[in-house]
Amino acid sequence: MKIDSTTVVTAAEERAAEGARVQVAEFAALPDHRLSLAADVRRGLTLAQKELPPKYFYDERGAMLFEAICDLPEYYQTRTERGILDAIADILVSHAHPSTLVEFGSGSSSKTRVLLDAMNRAGLLGTYVPLDISREMLLETAEQLVAEYDDLNVRAVIADFAMPLPPITVEGNALVIFLGGTIGNFREDEAKRFLRNVAESMRPGDRFVVGVDLVKDPLELNAAYNDAAGITAEFNLNVLDVINRELAADFDRSRFTHYAFYNPGESQIEMHLASRCDQQVTIAALEMCVHFERGETIRTEISRKFTRGSISRLLAAAGLELCEFHSDGANRFALCVASLGDARRTEHTTH
Ligand code: AVI
Repeated sequence: MKIDSTTVVTAAEERAAEGARVQVAEFAALPDHRLSLAADVRRGLTLAQKELPPKYFYDERGAMLFEAICDLPEYYQTRTERGILDAIADILVSHAHPSTLVEFGSGSSSKTRVLLDAMNRAGLLGTYVPLDISREMLLETAEQLVAEYDDLNVRAVIADFAMPLPPITVEGNALVIFLGGTIGNFREDEAKRFLRNVAESMRPGDRFVVGVDLVKDPLELNAAYNDAAGITAEFNLNVLDVINRELAADFDRSRFTHYAFYNPGESQIEMHLASRCDQQVTIAALEMCVHFERGETIRTEISRKFTRGSISRLLAAAGLELCEFHSDGANRFALCVASLGDARRTEHTTH
């Protein structure tokens, strides 16, 4: 893995003094949040099938609602992934022999500790490189982790991992992780682009671990996105509050309904907000009026579900080779371990 602050992270801001155990680098190409929201809303709400990218769910309230979703009885993903991780952490570390843990979309890094503990037990704990869009979250987590682990250095990178990634240079092998099933929220082209970036930053000997939700009984999937307590509905509707606040819009959330269903043809959950009436919404900051017919929807998220075959093909398209597939007993969720495929390994040996 390469994090090289002299190349792509040219305007990197190195916080913290030399020798400090926490360093934060800001990726130069990070776009302004409000500008990208404005562009995405303008584009998305003028399409025939209106849509919004799911990343705008996660303001402070959205992040709290998502944490509540993870604890819902119907939403098995978080605890199932955690169970698999608990079971395989030592094996993963013994196979990959990593001295660095790189995590995309680290959030609060709760599952990270399972792997850091395993690296610690193996006497390998060196550097943790969390990449996330939220500076506050990165700093808070970094400070907590260096307090908890005596020998750990944290080199946090503020980056939008849907964009080209900063190259990452570290000593020794890296274990690169992307947990939570978030890859499922990327369209096919976005997922391929992200995985190609991951593959590009890996070296032979590095391992990539990605969590994926698996294709299963549609009723179980529908329940997970239509919980009885209505938290997922609230999470979905919250994006309208984000747009109202950031772009001076006048969405009336009581005029929209949460609508989520499994689409078996595409192997994906789709979350929509359906208009309950004919209506006109004004987005003042964009000088734009959007008309909704009764029943018309905005697609706010896709959540793709995989099989061993489909994730293996997706990884292969990005130059990665699936080498281990760990699922729970009920085959609900899987952690997939990949290494550089032959073509990429050869590139490394010939350069
Ligand atoms: C973050 N991501 C993996 C969640 C999912 O299941 O696709 C987001 C979510 N949307 C509704 N519930 C949870």
